[in-house]
Amino acid sequence: MDKDRKLLIAGNWKMNKTVAEGLDLVQELVREVNQVKEIDIVVCPPFTALSEVSKKIIESNIRLGAQNMSEHTGGAYTGEIAAEMLKEFLVRYVILGHSERRQYQEESDSLISKKALTAHAASIKPIICVGETLEQRESDVTKDVIGSQIRGSLAGLTSEQMLETVIAYEPVWAIGTGKTASSEQAQEVHHFIRTVLSELHGDTIAKQVRIQYGGSVKPGNARELMSQPDIDGALVGGASLDAKNFSEIVLNSI
Ligand code: PGA
Repeated sequence: MDKDRKLLIAGNWKMNKTVAEGLDLVQELVREVNQVKEIDIVVCPPFTALSEVSKKIIESNIRLGAQNMSEHTGGAYTGEIAAEMLKEFLVRYVILGHSERRQYQEESDSLISKKALTAHAASIKPIICVGETLEQRESDVTKDVIGSQIRGSLAGLTSEQMLETVIAYEPVWAIGTGKTASSEQAQEVHHFIRTVLSELHGDTIAKQVRIQYGGSVKPGNARELMSQPDIDGALVGGASLDAKNFSEIVLNSI
């Protein structure tokens, strides 16, 4: 597909896959997508599988991401994982502020912005998730919600850091539900996000930032979504747990 921005397709395994299962998945994935140069491909296993998966993909075109990290750099924070610990496994990306963490761990925009700054300090690229609930969409406040999540979660980032940041627009009502936003609905919000980025960092920066779509992306709808002018990749949950589905999403998006 002909776009200035290189597509980024990331698989968010969530709380799935033992080490052995994760290794099987990436082994097949490496076989299927090894020739792909046009798209950046990332897998985000649970923390427990990062080390082994990292070794398996080290010589491939697949990069490693984590699903979360602490805003702190180290110390007495039981159960937390620091950016430097992720770097040991060559983690290049970290998903921040996924709607499940916003909902179940009550993560706020200001916490997410702190995490983003910590990630950048360690040269890990944050994938910052935003999205409205069904109730918010139906009450016609989608743009208010997205605008405030974007401004809050990106607070304090320099323009240089912005260029190394990925945004994922994931309408909460489309996650794991089988309901995808139509490509027009998604494009409208992606365009809006780019407008907000342009207000924050200017046009030149805004045009270079990658904005992924997430929410029931499947092999069958990937091409149509990726053909939208402001959609620059996908954050894939359910379909990333199966090597065939995930690789088809990648191959159909070229
Ligand atoms: P889904 O999840 O593809 O299963 O809808 C997307 C996500 O939560 O990142």
